[in-house]
Amino acid sequence: PKNIWLDVDPGHDDAIAILFAVHCPNINLLGISTVHGNAPAECTAVNAARCLLAYGAPNHLRVYPGASKPLLRPAKHDPEIHGPDGLGGVEGLPAVDDPAVLALIAKDEDGQSIYALDGMTAAIKKVKANGEKVSVVSCGPMTNIGLFVALRPELLDAVDQFVFMGGGVGLGNRSAVAEYNIQCDPHAAQIVLDAPVPTVMVPINVTHTAIADRKVMWNLLRPGLPVGSPNDALPTAKTPLRHTLTTLIQFFAGSYKSTFGFEDGPPIHDALTVAYVSNPEIFTSTRYRVDVELEGKWTVGETVVDVWDYQHASPDIWGVGGKNCIVTQAVQVDQFFAMFLD
Ligand code: BDR
Ligand code: CA
Repeated sequence: PKNIWLDVDPGHDDAIAILFAVHCPNINLLGISTVHGNAPAECTAVNAARCLLAYGAPNHLRVYPGASKPLLRPAKHDPEIHGPDGLGGVEGLPAVDDPAVLALIAKDEDGQSIYALDGMTAAIKKVKANGEKVSVVSCGPMTNIGLFVALRPELLDAVDQFVFMGGGVGLGNRSAVAEYNIQCDPHAAQIVLDAPVPTVMVPINVTHTAIADRKVMWNLLRPGLPVGSPNDALPTAKTPLRHTLTTLIQFFAGSYKSTFGFEDGPPIHDALTVAYVSNPEIFTSTRYRVDVELEGKWTVGETVVDVWDYQHASPDIWGVGGKNCIVTQAVQVDQFFAMFLD
């Protein structure tokens, strides 16, 4: 299995990314850090812990709370898409003040929280000492990861790749050209793109093809049985987890319909990052120079993907001046949802 550190802002699709990371047979999840984003940082930390408990995650896993605001810009949450606490409409998760949930937030011997940077540092030091590597996966604004790059350069040689959900190739969702995660903390995203480590971008051009449609819902509710006709009401979920996931997808579907006009279901953006680490062969991708627009009047947070190689970057240099990012372009959607249903 591949080692993963997961950074999230749950968030409906983040919650599914956590599910993948906990239960994918090819993945060894080392820990989860949380960040401001879809909801305030206090909410995203507790939400990640609620997911771990609901998913029956291994006992050693902990949530390490991270940055409550971007490096420079003010924090910007997204209640329109995810509800005020980040997991609007999701039924069956443990309560936010359940002691078993709070016990999953990492604490030191004095009972103080262990924060994202320290959690990542300890886990990646261990990986390095064992001569292994880790994929660091980002499903929210990249503040925690940017800080890690800046403050722990000595550990970057143990990072195999930074895989992030974010950005678009000529496409935005929180402005005409900026995607939410990158728009929230464009400076942190640029720091990660400039790191001397391979980066992999899973942009909305790809995630918008991974739609949890009627067929996915029926397969989730009635595994292995035929999909009902369009007028049939959805069947009742057979297990609490299937019910939780159904309500999660239904709420997210409602947001995507009312905000973006998606008729068939919501895109499961974030889980694609974990699927990439586990099964990169279900993706096609090309390496490009990618930078983030930091100053533009209309374009802050745009990922500028140099598809025509205007910068004449040398193809074999990672980092500043080179083709710094593997940009995924397509995913085999049926394979991805088969992994989800597994
Ligand atoms: C990204 O923004 C959030 O709404 C989702 O969790 C995902 O990470 C999609 O633009
Ligand atoms: Ca997210």
